[in-house]
Amino acid sequence: MEKYYITTAIAYTSGKPHIGNMYEIILSDAIARFKRNHGFDVLFQTGTDEHGEKIEIKAKEVGKTPQEFVDEVSSEIRRLWDLLNISYDKFVRTTDANHEKVVQNIFKKLYDQGDIYLGEYKGLYCVPCESFFTETQLVDGKCPDCGREVKETSEKAYFLKLSNYTDRLIKYMEEHPEFILPVSRKNEMINNFLKPGLQDLCVSRTSFKWGIPVSFNKEHVIYVWIDALANYITNIGYDVDNSTDEFKKYWPVDVHVVGKDIIRFHTIYWPIMLMALGLPLPKQVYGHPWLLFQNDKMSKSKGNIMYPDDLVNLFGVDAVRYYCLHEVSFANDGNITYDLIIDKYNTDLANVLGNLVNRTISMANKYFTGTVSNKGVSEEIDSSLINLVNEVDLNVSKYIDEFNISEALTVIFDALRRCNKYIDETTPWVLAKDESMMDRLETVIYNLLESIRVLAVNLDPFLPDTSKNILKQLNTNDMSVTFKDREFSGMENEPLFQRIDKEAMLKEINE
Ligand code: MSP
Repeated sequence: MEKYYITTAIAYTSGKPHIGNMYEIILSDAIARFKRNHGFDVLFQTGTDEHGEKIEIKAKEVGKTPQEFVDEVSSEIRRLWDLLNISYDKFVRTTDANHEKVVQNIFKKLYDQGDIYLGEYKGLYCVPCESFFTETQLVDGKCPDCGREVKETSEKAYFLKLSNYTDRLIKYMEEHPEFILPVSRKNEMINNFLKPGLQDLCVSRTSFKWGIPVSFNKEHVIYVWIDALANYITNIGYDVDNSTDEFKKYWPVDVHVVGKDIIRFHTIYWPIMLMALGLPLPKQVYGHPWLLFQNDKMSKSKGNIMYPDDLVNLFGVDAVRYYCLHEVSFANDGNITYDLIIDKYNTDLANVLGNLVNRTISMANKYFTGTVSNKGVSEEIDSSLINLVNEVDLNVSKYIDEFNISEALTVIFDALRRCNKYIDETTPWVLAKDESMMDRLETVIYNLLESIRVLAVNLDPFLPDTSKNILKQLNTNDMSVTFKDREFSGMENEPLFQRIDKEAMLKEINE
């Protein structure tokens, strides 16, 4: 079996995650499920990023130790991932003892071989972003990433020599045009960061304690990004001189799915760490766009955060998954509001999908007391439907490989719309009035049932519960993705995605 290793960024444990963070995990879950269904031996890893000054400060604010604080947030994140039906195989925490040990070993190895050296750091530091900046990098005297105050810091620190590896990295990027997705971000990395020359990266801190100590100089803790990036290898069994078979099997990773804001860390610092360790580089890094609230960044200070619990309570898990996956495209940010979710729910999930399944099973039960097979009384219009449905898997597969998940879903929903149109065109209720048309009617209903079955199978990676529910209603567990001759019987109709009364729900939400 071919392996497929996919990871998400590991979420900060500085606070409860919001629906923005959810997008990435839902996206990665859809890909992981798709690959599993297509015969890959998938390893899907996610987790939490638990060190750093910000967490130390937050914990203090609420009178907890950093460990107590991250224990709570990490389990809350895990609870939400489970709520969203995320099929991760591994959940890594950067406070795991093994991770901490291996990160120390990595740091020591790089120090021993001269890639890391002790120097002095003078600079401007942004605590929330855990990043140093030079004067010229600031925007209006503030952090260029988050716009908050930076503070002047001077300390003895360890540095990672990035310059040793710049040329090799540029060469790698140029020889692997698909290494960074979207491809436009590759040029940005090369032209804005690599070509002007990289300053050595400061990889230790002495100004706070909540981090992994440098094993041979305990006053220093390891820079949180070095610690965090290493999760992708520590948690699958890497160690500097003795890695497990699991590591040998799954590394290099097939894709790191990360947000657009952290592409630089994954395509410059991380590959350089790997080169220094003598390990192969990731096959791909996909920097996805963001999910915005009313086209704005969600943040606690703006009070515009939507939480996954609330959304799941109102709409159900699969509707939330559907909205996120459909709304954010391969390269453009998506927008989320209650108004938009309700509209999408009603048009796509209730009208297109729910209605089709409901209408079709009801007709099967009404006209044929629930037992339907292919009577083979075909008309031309049937083959256009069947051909379209048979091609869905291939088209979805192509879009998944391009990380264009929104398009993949569109392919399926276009086919569902086509089925609804087929009902309008074949008018089963008219056929039902004519005794001589019974076999034609049964063929029509059969074509619809089998189309729904195939499309439900296609929906599985995106809307896993709904997919299973539809297959249960059809009383089949056949997961093949092409049309077959079969008999449907014992079907039970249970309405899916009932229309939402928008005004009533918005009123409820506002209250
Ligand atoms: N801890 C670092 C990642 C370390 S990976 C070795 C981090 N954490 S984060 O919690 O801030 O973000 C986790 C992921 O969520 C990132 O990939 C980030 O881009 C993504 N998102 C955060 N807000 C988002 C949206 N509003 N929309 C979509 N993704 C967003 O960065």
